[in-house]
Amino acid sequence: MTGIEIVGTGRCVPGRLVTNDDLSRLVDTSDEWIRTRTGIAQRYFCAEGETNAQLAAGAARAALKRAGISAEQIGLCVAATFTADHAMPSLACEVHGALSLPESAPAFDVNAACTGFITALETARSLLAGGSVTGEYALVIGSESISRVLDMTDRNTCVLFGDGAGAAVIRLSDKHDYRCVMGARGDASLLHAGGAASEEHFVHMEGKAVFRFASETVPKCVMQVLDSAKMTMDDIDYVVCHQANGRIIDHVMKKLNAPAEKFYKNMQTYANTSAASIAIALDEMNEKGLLCPGTRVVCVGFGAGLTWGGTLLTF
Ligand code: COA
Repeated sequence: MTGIEIVGTGRCVPGRLVTNDDLSRLVDTSDEWIRTRTGIAQRYFCAEGETNAQLAAGAARAALKRAGISAEQIGLCVAATFTADHAMPSLACEVHGALSLPESAPAFDVNAACTGFITALETARSLLAGGSVTGEYALVIGSESISRVLDMTDRNTCVLFGDGAGAAVIRLSDKHDYRCVMGARGDASLLHAGGAASEEHFVHMEGKAVFRFASETVPKCVMQVLDSAKMTMDDIDYVVCHQANGRIIDHVMKKLNAPAEKFYKNMQTYANTSAASIAIALDEMNEKGLLCPGTRVVCVGFGAGLTWGGTLLTF
């Protein structure tokens, strides 16, 4: 499998900071309940007039800057989202326009819910490797404005999610070990939101069942990635799970008998930003200097679909 090098990362969060206490004024909840059940302390929501496209473009610009490359060098733009501002054009095409990417660079969205960033990375890698796109670099974005599809009277869901965007500039590399596994179980009953044929605009989730699904699937997915690379947890520096709930991550750690220091968590700051969460975490880690040359990270996404995907990245 041809690998990828992540040459730059970026993130962008919207302007409205919403604390647990803020939400406790809207629904019957408390900071204590939210923190202990989820690990979430706050989240950012889009302010009036702020769009998903602005977040995605902001993260993409930051990733290009960190990579030290210009927009003209981008050969492909893939965005993962389930909350694009419009059914068409795609979020990726909006970013394409905002950044003046070259016309030779195709742009489209993928929707694998919270597995979106992993799916988008593998999609971009495959297209670069297949030779059907020209240009050395791909821009891969995970970006969401979930606040637009939250029922702010439903305490079961409104406390769990946040808005934000993360992006990575990648190129093919055989020096950077890479693996990817993905799967899906067609099941719309546990977690769904909106769409052209739906009368239900808002996110609906069976929290307990989704928790069970994630707790079973994520450890298996980490093991599949490690097995495919003939590695063990000892060979891995960090595991970056989709940041839905700290208790899911704690469960994964226990099941894998792995040390807590290897599991990056930032849901306390952003809540669950779906397709953006892994990309935002990678950018934070990059900024903190955690991703040095040779650092190995397993990322695992899981969510509506049901979908899951894991990837081994080497920096
Ligand atoms: N504040 C206070 N109480 C709340 C609440 C909130 N925000 N949300 C739910 N509750 C209540 C419930 O109504 C229920 O009350 P009841 O016993 O009177 O009926 C009680 O808390 C327990 O609810 P339960 O669903 O059993 O809680 P839980 O421990 O399973 O935690 C979640 C709920 C949503 C935090 C948990 O199920 C979860 O994290 N699921 C996975 C969600 C997820 O990660 N989704 C994204 C996947 S991509």
